[in-house]
Amino acid sequence: MSKVKELNAKIYVSVVFLIGILLAIYILYKYRDVSILGVVLFGVLVFIADNLSAPLPKAGSVSVNFGITFASLILFGPSTALIVTIISIFNIKEFTKRVPYYKHLFNAGQYIISICITSIVFDLLYKKNVESFFYPSNIGVIFLCAYVFFMLNTILTAGVLSISERINIFNVWVFNFAWIIPYHFFLSAMAIAISFLYKLYGPFTLIFTSLPLIMAQYSYLLRIKERKAILNSIMQIVRIMEAKDVYTAGHSIRVASFCEQISRKLRLNEYDIEILNNLANLHDIGKVQIDLSILNKRWKLSKADWVEIKKHPIVGYDIVKEIDFLKGKADAILYHHERIDGKGYPFGKEGKDIPLFAKILAIADAYDAMTSDRPYRRALTKQESIDELEKNKGKQFDIEICDIFINIIKEDQMGSSGEKKI
Ligand SMILES: [Fe+2]
Repeated sequence: MSKVKELNAKIYVSVVFLIGILLAIYILYKYRDVSILGVVLFGVLVFIADNLSAPLPKAGSVSVNFGITFASLILFGPSTALIVTIISIFNIKEFTKRVPYYKHLFNAGQYIISICITSIVFDLLYKKNVESFFYPSNIGVIFLCAYVFFMLNTILTAGVLSISERINIFNVWVFNFAWIIPYHFFLSAMAIAISFLYKLYGPFTLIFTSLPLIMAQYSYLLRIKERKAILNSIMQIVRIMEAKDVYTAGHSIRVASFCEQISRKLRLNEYDIEILNNLANLHDIGKVQIDLSILNKRWKLSKADWVEIKKHPIVGYDIVKEIDFLKGKADAILYHHERIDGKGYPFGKEGKDIPLFAKILAIADAYDAMTSDRPYRRALTKQESIDELEKNKGKQFDIEICDIFINIIKEDQMGSSGEKKI
């Protein structure tokens, strides 16, 4: 993160934390009816739930503790819910990971702001003197408050990501949080059920309402871990492959980085950017079946060598299409050596038939190849590579994506020459 971005992020975090502290003081001062039983029971539950939460793609995590905290708000009021929230902030995993202190401050600040404002709205609108628990307007208030909490919590988190990574806040929100909306409303309904059964039959009902929620969350966490393990083991193969070929060391990681820069300029959503990033990392995985003597050849490749090399997009596609969350876009690997004019391989597809991800991948891949040393030629300079891209625009590469990428390289050139002056 650049120093300016880091400073902006720290200012944002400090403001969020400060507002959180002020709101917490206000709530504890205004509502002095803390329930010790509520704090103990619900505090233990949120502590367990938060320590078994699953990470989200870009940042943050998904946890059922909202449902539990929210139930404590319905049952015991704002101050108890606030203390339960403060307990939920103590996540052992985060502390053992040695997360920077400002991340803790931010988490604390944004959770406290979210629960305090939600509590104020709840206290203003919820009719406590109504006897029936399922009084329609009160149920409506509960769902409204759930929405308020969700929006505050996710927008504050998207804000910090948007500042620190200079990503459009809407993109961050859609990718990270939009898909949680149904899940969040399910948790709101669960909070109603938890509170209703608690009121009717007492605290022991928590064993039947909250614990199954925590177990369901734990199985989701295991699924996320499995997905990461699959990606890591495949990336390990890529690293071994690149280590054997001295000329392509680090190639896939650089290609992935170029793809990410292009896709941000194209304003793709964060979900697609993540998928493309994974595909770019794996785009040459099909080379595992090519003989090393061909890959490391120091002289011109024969016709037979080329026949072998041209198989790698198909082999790579066959491998990647088996990965559940990548199979929908795996054809980017199949077509990453196709050309707009139809003279590429393996199928000679023309521009209109080549998917967007493959077009992006083709440019990023070609540029990294141009700017790296090869056994038979030295690396081209940035300017020579730009000329080469310009020359092949509309023939080998998509015109619009090529222009975007040339601008990225030029901006990068200007940025790095600017840094040198300092
Ligand atoms: Fe390739």
